[in-house]
Amino acid sequence: MLAEITARLLQGENHAESLKAAAELHDFFSGITQVRAGSQNPEDHCETLLDEGKALSPVDAARCILDYARTRNFLGGVRDAIIEAQQRFPEQTIQALYAGCGPFAPLMIPLTTEFTAGQVQFTLLDIHKRSLDSARQIIETLELSDFVRDYVQADAVSYKFPQGFAPHVIITETMQMALANEPQVAITFNLTQQMRAGGILIPQQITLRACLADLKREFAFQPAANGSGSTAIMESRARIELGKVFELTAESFKEQHLWHDANEADRTLCSPVRVLRVPQIAEQTFSLLILTEVTVFASHVLGDYEAGISYPKMLSELGFINSHARLEICYAIGKQPGLRYRLLEA
Ligand SMILES: C[S@@+](CC[C@H](N)C(=O)[O-])C[C@H]1O[C@@H](n2cnc3c(N)ncnc32)[C@H](O)[C@@H]1O
Repeated sequence: MLAEITARLLQGENHAESLKAAAELHDFFSGITQVRAGSQNPEDHCETLLDEGKALSPVDAARCILDYARTRNFLGGVRDAIIEAQQRFPEQTIQALYAGCGPFAPLMIPLTTEFTAGQVQFTLLDIHKRSLDSARQIIETLELSDFVRDYVQADAVSYKFPQGFAPHVIITETMQMALANEPQVAITFNLTQQMRAGGILIPQQITLRACLADLKREFAFQPAANGSGSTAIMESRARIELGKVFELTAESFKEQHLWHDANEADRTLCSPVRVLRVPQIAEQTFSLLILTEVTVFASHVLGDYEAGISYPKMLSELGFINSHARLEICYAIGKQPGLRYRLLEA
């Protein structure tokens, strides 16, 4: 059953098929663990507020599967990253660290139908015991324990690899659009410092860009040709690109000295400030949008409106934007991770 749902999720020809497969996967795992919206177990509804952002409750994390374009792209990306790691590290069992696996470990369990336990082993890590227990219950029920090196309850922001453990692939999806609220950046910061040479980070790249958009002309959609999410009818759009705001890769923290304390009291750490200039614009009907593009791995990319995590975020409090204004913007790691910005008029 798992193999059949996984195949449909990975190869689904259209939205409806992928959505159905994602919902079936959710219900299959939920049936084994009882992690579901109406659960009476209080642990299922407990989120954790960390110094670097919010860790979703087991029920909310479980629901992420249903964002089928996200799940499908991540599954395909992790599968291809494991294949790439096999080429980079021949004759080795690929070790994958899955930080923030949630109660269903959906970026691991379906892939056991594509590999053998001799080819890949996962270390599952989550801050919530209930999530780890749930993932373990699914894995034991489906007799997949050979694929698991360890279950670790820890904070991925500070977790140190034990001696002798050097994962080839590191997976973490602990993000929302515009990298707000959840600790993706802080987790990436910690784990990539310890990554082995040639190791692969998933997602490979997350890019935030700023643009001006006329919202009256922004929201016209049609189903994507590849069956994954929907695409906007581009011709109707009016957008003006302003430039890149922030990029997260395994290399992002090479120049750590450029990050600075924005506020010592709440321990907020900011990336270098970028200054983006608004050109001359004819009409005053443009708002500021932050676009999030997630390159999971190679060609597995989530763009505008394709998944919740890649939805454009409107900076509505800035109102309509004037010609020649300047946007000063940086990314901050702290209790409320996300972009910090101010708009200066010409
Ligand atoms: C957005 S959910 C994703 C769940 C699942 N990986 C998926 O792809 O559907 C994020 C998960 O990461 C966990 N998490 C968030 N921050 C964490 C941290 N600092 N350390 C460990 N786990 C964390 C949450 O508890 C939650 O289970």
